[in-house]
Amino acid sequence: MTRRPEVVVVGTGIAGLTTARRAAQSGCRVTLVTKGSLQETATAAAQGGVAAALRADDTPSAHAHDTMVAGAEHNDPAAVGVLTAEGPARVQELIDLGVPFDRDAHGALRWGLEAAHGAPRIVHAGGDATGAAIERTLAGTARDDGLRIAEHACLVDIVMAHGRVAGVELLIDGRREILPASAVVLATGGAGHLFAHTTNPAVATGDGIAAAVRAGAAVRDMEFVQFHPTVLAAGDSFLISEAVRGEGATLIDDTGDRFAFETHPDGELAPRDVVTRAVTRRMAQQHGHPVRLDATALGADFLAQRFPTIDAAVRARGLDWALDPIPVTPAAHYLMGGVVTDLDGRTTVPGLYAVGETACTGVHGANRLASNSLLEGAVFGHRAGNAIVADATTGSWPEASGALAAPPAAAAADAPPFSRRLLQDLMWQEAGALRTRAGLDRAASVLAAWSATPLPRTDVRAVEDANLLQVAGLVVAAARARTSSLGAHHLSDEDAADDLTGRQLVSAC
Ligand code: SIN
Repeated sequence: MTRRPEVVVVGTGIAGLTTARRAAQSGCRVTLVTKGSLQETATAAAQGGVAAALRADDTPSAHAHDTMVAGAEHNDPAAVGVLTAEGPARVQELIDLGVPFDRDAHGALRWGLEAAHGAPRIVHAGGDATGAAIERTLAGTARDDGLRIAEHACLVDIVMAHGRVAGVELLIDGRREILPASAVVLATGGAGHLFAHTTNPAVATGDGIAAAVRAGAAVRDMEFVQFHPTVLAAGDSFLISEAVRGEGATLIDDTGDRFAFETHPDGELAPRDVVTRAVTRRMAQQHGHPVRLDATALGADFLAQRFPTIDAAVRARGLDWALDPIPVTPAAHYLMGGVVTDLDGRTTVPGLYAVGETACTGVHGANRLASNSLLEGAVFGHRAGNAIVADATTGSWPEASGALAAPPAAAAADAPPFSRRLLQDLMWQEAGALRTRAGLDRAASVLAAWSATPLPRTDVRAVEDANLLQVAGLVVAAARARTSSLGAHHLSDEDAADDLTGRQLVSAC
């Protein structure tokens, strides 16, 4: 009798939970591992929704077109084809599992419009609490299906034996433990905490990407970091969903000028990287003062009903967005790059899989289209879950493809001692929404100095710091190697002279 594959899935957002569920249904013994609690994920915080061509007047190819345009055509067309063709079935599965997507008075799904989508094709739940509804539903099924769940277990490293994955090393209650497995799935999300301002939850410290690289896996597209243009510039970096602009809110500057149309004919609904740069430059022109999002025309009742989470958060910060425009600023939101995988989640290391934001299938190109990330987790998680069982007997693993190489950087002699805050400030300043070649070189030198002595990985915070430093090195190296602007990687050296003043984004967060 063949033994059931032992699978460890690290990360419990939509990508990890979907993979785990599918692998368990296919006969694997699955353990879910998470650094925080089960539902402490970027998925749970996602407001935007899930995009899929489910309407009769929409098509996967129209969705694919919008995905490619937003991604500056850097996308892998095969991955985009899979995402958009299989998306409707995965959304239907979420509906069948009981995710309470919003419906109109007749019981039909309500469709939202978001930036750079040519049609309203985004489903939401609880108005702006889509991710939370999905997370609750999937976490509930994981418990009901009897999956083993290890919470507060921090991934330290992938354990390798004879050139393939043999398990994971975890830090649990201060102790190192080995969990053996024939397949490990990395679904730890992105690395928003590389930057001083981010919409990501505290757990997003690049753990899966860093561990994969230490195990020998290839990464790509690490220079493509998406900065969301509208985060509340009051207190912490609270996201104001793109759906608010989709419903008609506008962006204005200190003089009341609606500036987004100066850079793109779609104005506030241009691709996210375009809107972020417009906001960044306008903020620089007004000495770092945030721009404002004007949602007053939508009315108090609509705002409270359609965006209950945002409405409560805005009001909790003493603002009334039904009466006055609210201050907003960009913040790091999503990493398009990650661990190289094929279309079934296989990395370049036998037995190692990556899904969701941790992975790079190439689906997002140089800039992700709004509301494609939850969909990505569902589609590619499902495929990875299917592949794991088949691979137990017949797996073949992709080769590493050639990555761009950056020139070596000399360690800065005057670098201050490492701290997470200094790393985040450095990345924000030099590797943010507007970059320069000189700034990236400076960042590389400081990172080289900090990396000269390995950071001790004695507790969870220290493991995260080491991962952040490692992933920062990957982002900056990839950004230095890409010598012209593309999508979210923007070199302001290439802009007209007066644009150079926009490089330094002074955040009012
Ligand atoms: C948003 O609600 O604006 C974010 C959605 C996304 O990142 O896709």
